[in-house]
Amino acid sequence: MIASASSSSPSSSSSSSGLPQNGGYVPRERIRDVRDGGSGRVGETVTVRGWARTVRRQKQFAFLEVNDGSCLGNLQVVLAPDAEGYTLIEEGSVSTGASVSITGVLAESPGSGQDVEVKGSKLVLLGGANPETYPLQKKRHTNEFLREIAHLRPRTNTYGAVNRVRAALAQATHTFFSTNGFCLVATPVVTASDAEGAGELFQVTTLPVATGNGGAGAVGDAAGPDRESLEAAVAAQGARVRDLKAADPQDGVAVKAAVEELLRLKQALEEAGRAAAAGPYAADFFGRASYLTCSGQLNAEAMATGLGDVYTFGPTFRAENSNTTRHLAEFWMVEPELAFADLDADIACAEGYLRFCLSYVLTHCREDLDFFQKFYDKGLLGRLERVASSPFVRVTYTDAVARLEAAVASGEKKFVFPVKWGADLQSEHERYLCEEVFGNAPLVVTDYPKGIKAFYMRANDDGKTVAAMDVLVPGVGELIGGSQREERLEVLEARMREVGLKPEDYSWYLDLRRYGTVPHAGFGLGFERLVQYVTGMDNIRDVIPFPRAPGTCAF
Ligand code: 4AD
Ligand code: MG
Repeated sequence: MIASASSSSPSSSSSSSGLPQNGGYVPRERIRDVRDGGSGRVGETVTVRGWARTVRRQKQFAFLEVNDGSCLGNLQVVLAPDAEGYTLIEEGSVSTGASVSITGVLAESPGSGQDVEVKGSKLVLLGGANPETYPLQKKRHTNEFLREIAHLRPRTNTYGAVNRVRAALAQATHTFFSTNGFCLVATPVVTASDAEGAGELFQVTTLPVATGNGGAGAVGDAAGPDRESLEAAVAAQGARVRDLKAADPQDGVAVKAAVEELLRLKQALEEAGRAAAAGPYAADFFGRASYLTCSGQLNAEAMATGLGDVYTFGPTFRAENSNTTRHLAEFWMVEPELAFADLDADIACAEGYLRFCLSYVLTHCREDLDFFQKFYDKGLLGRLERVASSPFVRVTYTDAVARLEAAVASGEKKFVFPVKWGADLQSEHERYLCEEVFGNAPLVVTDYPKGIKAFYMRANDDGKTVAAMDVLVPGVGELIGGSQREERLEVLEARMREVGLKPEDYSWYLDLRRYGTVPHAGFGLGFERLVQYVTGMDNIRDVIPFPRAPGTCAF
């Protein structure tokens, strides 16, 4: 154990219950704790480990800026020539990117930007980083370049900050839902149903994939073993048996062998027929077509109609060919499902959750948010504070379309995509609404036409719209999509048929309406879009460590 475990670190001493606090675990010293301790820790001896961001040698001393990822700020280390390991500096073995361990005494720092620095007494080189080849030298790199080295970008200021804020938002999510009585549930990643009915699923299979010359049983080979050639073989063998019997009725051995072969072929033909009837996936791992989930909602509904309010938070997958700054093929979704709830309750929950997330990061991630404000989005902090403290504006889809049409008619605004009641809002429309019409703040659009929304949304009495809601935010567009669910069995079945889905394929889902159905509602928040909104990062590929998008699956 490191002797200098600080007073600000969790202590291993006993609590009043007699059990050790923090499970008895004492984490290693982090630069964040050293910096947070400020001048209160002057005089303490600490050992920290991290990566050198800069190494400067001056006449009398060497200066190292060390970062360990625990916070944005570096720890400044001053080494005198008599410090153990100083020769590593003289040889040039400790350069930008090298990993080091440093022991020394904390002292007031005369420099600005930090209260304390370390007067190093011992420097250990853990791993060098050849300056000829190490790609992260001390200059500002573009985010496009850093995407090419996604495995090294966690060592930069931007990606350190993005991922700390991302982690804080996940923490905020669990805090919000657990304090409000929601139960965290696991929904499956592999599924046989298309929750959105949009057909953008990635297939999961253990069958060999047909690649031009793929053999029998390959995915896409619906016939399985070749029935036509088996039928021909059965006919030919039948003829051979007849010929043998006719030629020499006394030759029992030859006839018997031929009959046995005929029976074997007939059995193979029968099996092939059965396999064809079972479909091409009879031999697949799950015995049916299966996919990566595009939403945990249907399973969350099953959990909510037993456990009450639940939420799920996990990866979801969409094979939509959208090469935009807001779409990923693999993204994370937070999906609460509220029992005994209507659309108003759903919207209230979405608004409370989002505002809570903003307050949470304003309290817990100040240093990182200051960084984003300085380098990415000048109005960031003011925007987050304003949104956290004011109620969201609501507008129906029908009124929103009227606003857009009026803007076009008056010549105030031109759009690439036409505006028409019944058509989906494009992101240019969404952004105009919340950035220019409704005060540059989150906007809740409700009651969309049924034709552009998923089959499970509850039909409104007008027969044209459904109890849907989207939360749109400036800069990002759609952040949340949700609805009250159709809880009436007959209405839901009729709607499924109308959109070409077979109710029998969703029979377990319909059981939730057959037995003890209740009004319920929920929503899905795209977690990367939330990170974008909170950090001001332009491209969604920069707010998930290893992005998956069309043609992109490196690392
Ligand atoms: O609006 P969506 O499609 O809603 C659902 O999937 C519902 N089943 C959720 C529910 O009610 N439980 O997706 C929800 C959110 C969107 O608002 C968007 O923020 C995000 O998921 N999203 C994506 N994020 C990144 N890349 C993509 N390709 C996304 N598609 C949707
Ligand atoms: Mg949506």
